[in-house]
Amino acid sequence: MNYYIGIDLGTSSCKGILTNREGTVLAEHSVSYNVSYPAPGYSEQNPEDWYNAAVEILEVLSEGRKEDVKGIGIAGQMHGLVMLDENDDVIRPAILWNDGRTEKETAYLNSLGCLPTYTGNIAFAGFTAPKILWVKENEPENFALAKKICLPKDYLAYKLTGVFSSDYSDASGMLLLDVANKCWSKEMCDICGITVDMLPRLYESYEATGKVKAEYGLPNAILCAGAGDNAAAAIGTATLRDGDCSISLGTSGTVFLPCDKFNTTCGTALHNFAHSTGKFHLMGCILSAASCNKWWVRDILDTKYNDDPRDDLGQNRVFFLPYLTGERCPHNDVNAKGAFVGLTINTTQADMSLAVLEGVAYALRDCVEAGGVKIDKAVLCGGGAISPLWQGIMSGILGADIYLTETEQGPSMGGALLAMTACGEYESVYAAADATVRKTLAVQADPVRTAAYNEGYAIYKKLYPALRDTGL
Ligand code: XUL
Repeated sequence: MNYYIGIDLGTSSCKGILTNREGTVLAEHSVSYNVSYPAPGYSEQNPEDWYNAAVEILEVLSEGRKEDVKGIGIAGQMHGLVMLDENDDVIRPAILWNDGRTEKETAYLNSLGCLPTYTGNIAFAGFTAPKILWVKENEPENFALAKKICLPKDYLAYKLTGVFSSDYSDASGMLLLDVANKCWSKEMCDICGITVDMLPRLYESYEATGKVKAEYGLPNAILCAGAGDNAAAAIGTATLRDGDCSISLGTSGTVFLPCDKFNTTCGTALHNFAHSTGKFHLMGCILSAASCNKWWVRDILDTKYNDDPRDDLGQNRVFFLPYLTGERCPHNDVNAKGAFVGLTINTTQADMSLAVLEGVAYALRDCVEAGGVKIDKAVLCGGGAISPLWQGIMSGILGADIYLTETEQGPSMGGALLAMTACGEYESVYAAADATVRKTLAVQADPVRTAAYNEGYAIYKKLYPALRDTGL
């Protein structure tokens, strides 16, 4: 029997699944770790924590079948900056995708005007290039030590195989990749004061990069190049072709739209990245999605999630802006703040809880509108996808049919399917996903509900500019 392991190197935890070639999940294991916020807007993690978590996951999932694990694929939180010195030791904690310290560097990069030509994208604070500039400016002693620069999953892959590799989907988010031509941009490296030879070798996500080192006790396992977590989730939800769409409700929220050709028809409002199929995709990303609900329910209310069905969706006139860690798309504003608006003496806790879920869905609709794209169906994944209430809200606010897959763990499943392809179980990622991923309709779009939500969205859209102008 051949087994495959998909690892999702996330922000709140590292999750792993073991599957067979049919994509049946046979075992799961996850290890949580912390994010540190050493200053307002800063967000960091210790790469050693990822490594320890991943090693534990590999040990647990391969227990009793070490010889039969044939391939591993890692889906990684994107954009994080990992810097290694000449001994391959980590120089400083990784600066994460939702870190907002680079306002100045982001503005500088965008002021150059040439980034869309070099990379197909503009700079957002969470991307890797502005972070490199930040370290250069603020920690010159660390910058001087750097011999290798890579993304979170590529650090893990390097530890596991000794091969310094990345894939095009994740590399797109560094803002150092010429996405259309799939090569590192020398111009961007020059702007950031680094050299191309500090960056990993590039592969397609479904290509094998190396054998897992003997010390991990998996004698027959190879690692594939893997993917950014969203591009991996797109494989795990069979979001492969023009017209498909997947939405992830994890710590971040994303709208993911594959395209066969490199596509800048919606300008730079959405990210123009490489897909792990070998083609391309557009993506809108909001920085706080399921994390808003977790903050509200666990940290503020100190209670449990409530998924009670509501028959009045679209009527709520309490609004929540989900900008708890600033916002990426479409506002590109590290100073954006969260807010409840529209409270009255009659407002209930349930109204506010509903507003939190709705605020995240409205923010995702902002991404869709900013990109000028239309979606009529989407597969939902990530921790938030298991909530029937949120499924109904997403359908109402986006006016789309909502589908689910058997596991909400899209990124890990994507990692496993990429590994299967690298091992030759399937002739392509398309074949792997088409053969294994089953989507079921969870909520059918209801025009009446969407019309009600259109009124709410018209109000929601006015709130960010109004609050921004208070200077809060
Ligand atoms: C995507 C992004 C997030 C992280 C979360 O651009 O920043 O979705 O990948 O892990």
